[in-house]
Amino acid sequence: MINKPIIFALPGNEELANSLINSLKAEKGEAVIRPFPDGESYIKVVSDVSDKKVVLVCTLQQPDDKLLPLYFLSKTLKGFGAKKITLVAPYLAYMRQDKQFNLGECITSELFAKLISSFADELITVDPHLHRRSSLDEIYSIPTQVLHAAPLISNWIKENIPNAVLVGPDSESEQWVAAVAKKAGAKYLIMEKTRRGDMEVTIKVPDVKQWNQNTPVLVDDIISTARTMVETIKHLIKAGYRSPVCIGVHGIFASDAYELLIKSGANQVITTNTIPHPTNRIAIDELIKTAL
Ligand code: R5P
Repeated sequence: MINKPIIFALPGNEELANSLINSLKAEKGEAVIRPFPDGESYIKVVSDVSDKKVVLVCTLQQPDDKLLPLYFLSKTLKGFGAKKITLVAPYLAYMRQDKQFNLGECITSELFAKLISSFADELITVDPHLHRRSSLDEIYSIPTQVLHAAPLISNWIKENIPNAVLVGPDSESEQWVAAVAKKAGAKYLIMEKTRRGDMEVTIKVPDVKQWNQNTPVLVDDIISTARTMVETIKHLIKAGYRSPVCIGVHGIFASDAYELLIKSGANQVITTNTIPHPTNRIAIDELIKTAL
């Protein structure tokens, strides 16, 4: 952006928004965003946004609660003359239901994309779960910028885990894990995963004993229920590996997922700050700043 933007944090996104405001020397957007006692949203814009480029920072885990306030705020800002609304959503939700797995299912990724495209003019995100789709442009009608955490993860591994062997949970992670491993100067293994339900994952293991003197580092784009990592850890430990380090780009940690991961033998759990969590060790602020 040539003109400095005005940056608003949606609730829970203050840390990243403030970091962007400071490093870009941007204006801080002031708004009141709070729930009424009955659960409806109250939105009041305090800053003057007329003719300004507005950035809304709102990561989108647990998206159902966030979407309405985001929609109301964006539309209100446009109503007050904002020139352009850029949505910075470091974690982009609803990317995994990208086809009808069973008859009658809603392809939520498409409808979610339509909804976001109806109130934002641009989207910036980090490693969205692109599996069967090759680009966000297939579903988003607004311009999108996709940023990648892989180089940051490689650097973290290089600096913190000598003699690492990277482990990807399934074939769809291979390309990504291979790139992280190459830059970290490490070897990698790929498991074969089958998801049997929300909470049930089975992992088939290739011959993994070969690297069991190295420190295993599980890498995945999302840790949600953590079942994928928990199953992988079981197999690695059975194969004689030491407790693995688990790295996720997006740590959602649904319900007791984090505790489960630690209980199942993870030595350390590391995430980027696309979703604020005590496991955040890898900052994506600089990527977003450059994109803006
Ligand atoms: C799925 O394809 C993703 O890459 C992750 O492996 C998955 O979302 C992890 O989910 P969970 O933590 O619920 O096993």
